[in-house]
Amino acid sequence: WQSDELIFFVNGKKIIEKHAEPEELLLSYLRKGLCLTGVKKGCGIGGCGACTVMISTYDPVSKKILHYPANSCLLPICSLHGAAVTTVEGVGSTKTRIHPIQERLAKCHGSQCGFCTPGMVMSMYALLRNHPEPSMEQITAALDGNLCRCTGYRPIIDSYKSFAGEPTCCQLRGTRQCCLDQEGVHASSDKGDGMCSNLCNPKEFQPMDPSQEFIFPPELMRM
Ligand code: FES
Ligand code: FES
Repeated sequence: WQSDELIFFVNGKKIIEKHAEPEELLLSYLRKGLCLTGVKKGCGIGGCGACTVMISTYDPVSKKILHYPANSCLLPICSLHGAAVTTVEGVGSTKTRIHPIQERLAKCHGSQCGFCTPGMVMSMYALLRNHPEPSMEQITAALDGNLCRCTGYRPIIDSYKSFAGEPTCCQLRGTRQCCLDQEGVHASSDKGDGMCSNLCNPKEFQPMDPSQEFIFPPELMRM
């Protein structure tokens, strides 16, 4: 490639920018340039998480692929040379396949107006790419940069409780009961993936299948 070319991938598609604008931010590039309007503009200054995408890079020293969530409203596209960007459109859609992260959020009533939802999905997606069976502490930490003005957060956390490696529930850890709704606990399997409410049934959830996710573009590992 030529040294003045900016090369990165978005949802598995290679992008080559020969005249990248130094001040262009990823959020406007995705929404206006690529028509990927799943990524939302809330505050525009890094405070709400509505614009979250996942950035993946290859570290040639450790020979590991690193995934992290990022506020696209703060990220100049010129910082993305050699990176792979995943937006909510790359995670799943009603046109192709709804991802379990999206399905569980919807079925557990974790989305109302839906404006924060793509950012919530992307923060959770980045967490699961790094930690397929996260703890509840990791789940709540992963979502702490995402604001929601509608749900009060409880249904969102309940949705994603089902991805936790260990059954955990409020202060009653290990009892498979919840202090909020002891009548409504679903003991859905022997593994103990108990949920806090009657609003959704974990037996209906699609299983998480990491083999269906985008792989990191091999070309970027050679750059
Ligand atoms: Fe609010 Fe980017 S739009 S953090
Ligand atoms: Fe409306 Fe979160 S569902 S902002």
